[in-house]
Amino acid sequence: MADAQNKKTSSSAIDVADATDSAAKFGSRLLQDEEAVFSQNAWDHVEWDEEQDRYAQERIQKHLSSPVPEEEQEQYYAQPAHYWNNFYQKNENRFFKDRNWLRLEFPELFLTADADAGKKTVFEVGCGAGNTMFPLLQESKNPNLFVYAADFSSTAVQVVQNNPSYDTSRSLAFVWDLASPDIPEHIQPESLDIIVLIFVLSALTPEQWEQAITNMYKMLKPGGLVLFRDYGRHDLAQLRFKEKRLLKENFYIRGDGTRVYFFTPEEVAGLFTSKASEETGPRFEVEQNAVDRRMIVNRSRKLKMYRVWLQGKFRKL
Ligand SMILES: C[S@@+](CC[C@H](N)C(=O)[O-])C[C@H]1O[C@@H](n2cnc3c(N)ncnc32)[C@H](O)[C@@H]1O
Repeated sequence: MADAQNKKTSSSAIDVADATDSAAKFGSRLLQDEEAVFSQNAWDHVEWDEEQDRYAQERIQKHLSSPVPEEEQEQYYAQPAHYWNNFYQKNENRFFKDRNWLRLEFPELFLTADADAGKKTVFEVGCGAGNTMFPLLQESKNPNLFVYAADFSSTAVQVVQNNPSYDTSRSLAFVWDLASPDIPEHIQPESLDIIVLIFVLSALTPEQWEQAITNMYKMLKPGGLVLFRDYGRHDLAQLRFKEKRLLKENFYIRGDGTRVYFFTPEEVAGLFTSKASEETGPRFEVEQNAVDRRMIVNRSRKLKMYRVWLQGKFRKL
């Protein structure tokens, strides 16, 4: 098992696309008979046994005892968008995937595409290649749906704009940093129905999370929704990191220079429900905050891989 988790030597953010491309709603495939483990590609709600827990702890201790040398850390904080630009230059076509799970897990999103949904505004933050915007618009029968998409990587935004399906009459893609002090000039305060945040918060430094939440809060209408999906603590992608990849606890630098954090659901809920100040109440309420634990099986190589993803729905109060 440990070997299986370590097989991949050079990590890259391409993992996101591979990892989440599943047609089955999570929770629908339960492994009841251990003997049947290699009979299908994936199992849901897999309980971790002691061996797996021990293995995870060992890996984490290894990472902690061998972080990225201090003198090398600076470069990864200095220009994070640069590494994502390189990523999209390399992976332009490979990164775009039609994600069937989007429709299953986030039906709220696709309701905005109904013919009679009325005026709806959706913002895909950290849009990359537009993995949410394009399927949503493709399905949309709503003439009053408008989708914004932004990324701090200008190359990612170009990828979106170069997509033959990019339609400026019902969407707009632009460069914007989620951690910047201001909301984008294109977006009015309290104007959005839905923000989509898929594998993006994990790319920010922990010090930037608060600003990111504040920005999303400012842009959403009261009652607006953040649809969130990201890496969970002890996911395979975390455990298989080698030495000298750790920047801070649970925060790593991939082989391609992009950064990634692995959250607990408590951390994520804590961020969204935090107060802007002592005088105010929580900013969001939690509608969903789930851990999606799957075992992905490589049937021909008889390998088991343990994935941990978080999925949340946070409604602005
Ligand atoms: C793992 S990719 C996910 C892309 C897309 N959301 C998806 O699910 O396919 C992370 C994306 O977040 C973007 N990103 C990272 N930090 C960002 C920031 N501070 N502001 C805006 N985008 C950011 C990266 O450029 C990259 O496109």
